[in-house]
Amino acid sequence: MSGAARTVSVNRVDGRLKVTGGARYAADQPAERLAHGCLLLSTVARGTVRAMDTTAAEASPGVLAVYTPFRTLALLGSGTPFSVGHSWLPLQDAGVHYHGQAIGLVVAETFEQARDAAALVRADYEVRPAAVSFPDGIPSATDPGPIMGEPARLEYLADGVDSIDAALAASEVTVSGTYQQPGKHHSAMEPHACVAAWQDGSLTLYTGTQSASLTVGAMAAALGVETAKVRVVSPHVGGGFGNKVATWAHSLLAAAAARTLGRPVKVVLTREQTFTVTGNRSAVRQTVSLGARRDGTLVAVKHQVWASQSGSGGIFESSAHTTSRYLYRTENLHLDQKIVTLDVPPPTWMRAPGQESGSFALETALDELAAELRIDPVELRLRNDATVYPGRNVPWSSKHLDECYRVGAQRFGWARRHPTPGAVQRGEWLVGMGTATANYPGERFPASVDVRFRPDGDVSVSSATADLGTGMWTVLAVLGAEALGLPVSRIRSDLGDSILAANIGSFGSASTASTGPAVAAAAQAATTALIDLAVTDERSPLHGRPAAEVRYERGELVAGDRRIGFPELLRTVDSPGVGATGSAAPGPDHGRYAFTSFGAHFCEVRVNRWTGEPRLTRITTVIDGGAIINAKTARSQIIGGVVFGIGQALLEGAVVEPDSGRIANGNFADYLLPVNADVPPIDVHFLDHPDLLFNPLGARGIGEIGTVGVAAAIGNAVYNATGRRVRELPITLDKLLD
Ligand code: MOS
Repeated sequence: MSGAARTVSVNRVDGRLKVTGGARYAADQPAERLAHGCLLLSTVARGTVRAMDTTAAEASPGVLAVYTPFRTLALLGSGTPFSVGHSWLPLQDAGVHYHGQAIGLVVAETFEQARDAAALVRADYEVRPAAVSFPDGIPSATDPGPIMGEPARLEYLADGVDSIDAALAASEVTVSGTYQQPGKHHSAMEPHACVAAWQDGSLTLYTGTQSASLTVGAMAAALGVETAKVRVVSPHVGGGFGNKVATWAHSLLAAAAARTLGRPVKVVLTREQTFTVTGNRSAVRQTVSLGARRDGTLVAVKHQVWASQSGSGGIFESSAHTTSRYLYRTENLHLDQKIVTLDVPPPTWMRAPGQESGSFALETALDELAAELRIDPVELRLRNDATVYPGRNVPWSSKHLDECYRVGAQRFGWARRHPTPGAVQRGEWLVGMGTATANYPGERFPASVDVRFRPDGDVSVSSATADLGTGMWTVLAVLGAEALGLPVSRIRSDLGDSILAANIGSFGSASTASTGPAVAAAAQAATTALIDLAVTDERSPLHGRPAAEVRYERGELVAGDRRIGFPELLRTVDSPGVGATGSAAPGPDHGRYAFTSFGAHFCEVRVNRWTGEPRLTRITTVIDGGAIINAKTARSQIIGGVVFGIGQALLEGAVVEPDSGRIANGNFADYLLPVNADVPPIDVHFLDHPDLLFNPLGARGIGEIGTVGVAAAIGNAVYNATGRRVRELPITLDKLLD
């Protein structure tokens, strides 16, 4: 760290609980008379369930009920909130929209009984032809409508230029490439799970969610109850990556079944089921054409995107609008986003939605331009660094991409890179270096926090936000300690429960940036409440003093020569605790600046000259994310993002069977993810430029940016090692052999 005065580096406050098995995830939640559900999934991609034979399953030991479209559970199909992952509710009709869709739920006394009975159900379909091939759908791609308030086809041209193609044609140098990547899956370590329990008409749902409040909204709407009657509890989430924002079929059906049966119901998806019942990332094809002057100045950027989408709704990768839209300065810009609607499971948000794919295309194209121009790839990026948001002419609140490149190049030893591809060989390995830019917007949402002084000497800091393994438990403790002048060990954080102070949750890399300022506001309000108690309660030694004469100092109230610690005060006045809720929200500056985090990745790869096997040697990542609150968990966030990008670059991709629409590799034996042996040493460095125009903490957020640009950096290094440009991910050895 470069001398960040406020940055601390502490262990996770929930770490001990997790490594000792004490942390209770959704599926660990006990309940009396708990029944177990197992989902039934469709085995065709499109059509109608004509009939389901549930006789054998219903007669199977321990079975309590088999729900199907023909013996359904009442859910309100109209007005499905956006926080349900798709546009319909399960089992309300017999339609099949993709292979692996929920078409039933078997509930039994034990999980094994439910699973065994599920295997006995026979479904008979009226099958209709399904469109599941992404490449085949490209010619009939459609316009998705506005993207983040801008047209899907967005263009600005310099005076006198007729079209983007004219600008490209007039450029001294042009490069153009088509880049492809398959659909991908979040693959959180904790599969989606829930325990639904009703009492007196109120539902408590234990489930791993990124947003307890959105889950409350989705459940209440689907079940036809008031939001006040739904509580969502989610203290620990074993990875989310965007896939635990929306509410999926298992939670809706478990809650509906629990209501009907009058017993709590648990549903845990199998790993295979998570691939289709929950969301994914679009498959993406992109064409990027760049026009430049000989000195490397970009004059034309054309970025076309085709992304898969589901007929069932969901979202899609907005690859150009999240990258080429603003990453570099250019006089002529043309973005064009199209979607290919297929009979496949719905895509949803997935870590850096848009940037992940967009950066692969744009940052690879820039490397191709650098090679064409014989300009160093770092130099090319510095030369085209945008200092105002293109086309809007608002400045960035704080942007230090140039410093990321300079510092990163130094730390990594970029100067040792040989500019000629294939020139460096060590034994049987060809060695290369590559670089790419990372970017992610600074997002911020309104948030509330409750701070409460306790008679036992602890202070609770709580909010209905989520910790996906990301470090929010610890961030609440660190910021609470800082605001109150107390050691971290005296703060008791609490989160992941919809009854806590209002908070939209954890997504958009915005949890710390949103919730952090509210901690300070709540600490201030709680301190005022503590002083108020001290001067008004007759039993207090400070009773009767003017509040203005009492000040709070590191856990004590001080008035003249009197000094009393809050635990003593609370015990003296027999108080169970005193505190207050504080809130924070984006301020008026939010229209006047662009808020974006930036970063630079550098990586070294080696490619075996006989087998084509690509291996990573080392990675350096420098992040300009504003102030860093806890260095230790922040570093882990970036490492996690980089590892996510390694999966994108070298391993991951859904294989959809063209005839059936089945995901052929929808399991952890066949869907490859990076393991420790695939992960090289990763050097993470944060610049220290607090962004005080963004929020009083100066912290923008770092949950997603780490993954952006990693695939391009790796691919660019593979090119430098071998002279081969692989434009289709993942970069597997077959693509590096003759
Ligand atoms: Mo993130 S894809 O906003 O959880």
